Amino acid sequence: MRKGTKMIKQLTLSAVLVMGLGSAVHAAGGESHIEDFDFSFEGPFGTYDQFQLQRGLQVYTEVCAGCHGLQYVPIRTLHDEGGVGLPADQVRAYAADNFDLTETDNFPANDAVGAPDLSLMAKARAGFHGPYGLGINQFFKGMGGAEYIASILTGYTGKEKEEAGVTLYENTAFPGGWISMAPPMEDGFVDFEPAHANDLHHLSEDVSAFLMWAAEPKMMARKQAGLTAVILLALLTVLLYLTNKKIWAPVKRRAKDTPAE
Ligand code: HEC
Repeated sequence: MRKGTKMIKQLTLSAVLVMGLGSAVHAAGGESHIEDFDFSFEGPFGTYDQFQLQRGLQVYTEVCAGCHGLQYVPIRTLHDEGGVGLPADQVRAYAADNFDLTETDNFPANDAVGAPDLSLMAKARAGFHGPYGLGINQFFKGMGGAEYIASILTGYTGKEKEEAGVTLYENTAFPGGWISMAPPMEDGFVDFEPAHANDLHHLSEDVSAFLMWAAEPKMMARKQAGLTAVILLALLTVLLYLTNKKIWAPVKRRAKDTPAE
């Protein structure tokens, strides 16, 4: 009885400690607040939503490309299955119409205003939370770089200030709370054909999904390989257990039959 109570006490203590750690982790993140968006590619079976990636490509092209390059992404990969999945002729037309390039080129770089290249942004900011990027929230909530980007885009408070001649915009997701990127879009900023929700939340979600794909086009293959490995290891564990039991069965039986001395 006393033992039971003690165990419950210990369990409660551990739970409190874990929860305390959680909030400490949150505090360490400072003011920056990352929203938990529901992306289709989260979880072990998650996949990219092809139409969302296509909308995200459009948002990137019409809004972000003016300042941000995407120089490590080959344009031809827009055709790849499991990703944006544009037909080859549309990829060709896209490259020519928007960037005066061919489909074998990469997206252009863009240094015009000193905005960082977005090719790897979704991966670079994946471990944003927790002490020194331990990625606690990424692990427990599936939150990663895509959430960070979407949170930046939706995190403007509307306040501005001027510092050393630079206008800064208050943003609840950006570390430090002030970013030099003006809010790049608002509700209804991009129109889709066929029509699709285009409030700021959806536009941000779509472009962030696209940037996740840009940074990790083979995410699905990686997940599949991981899952296969886990299943095989589980199977191996069961087989080993059964083999072990079988090998030792005669010995055990003999031990049972021999009367104790
Ligand atoms: C008018 C130019 C401009 C446009 C348009 C623009 N950005 Fe930016 N962006 C910047 C600049 C400049 C920075 C650097 C801000 C800083 O470090 O204070 C930045 C920073 C960022 C960051 C933060 C990177 C970090 O260091 O964590 C993200 C994410 C981002 N932009 C995404 C986007 C997306 C997505 C779009 C399109 C929807 C977009 N930006 C449109 C200029 C722009």
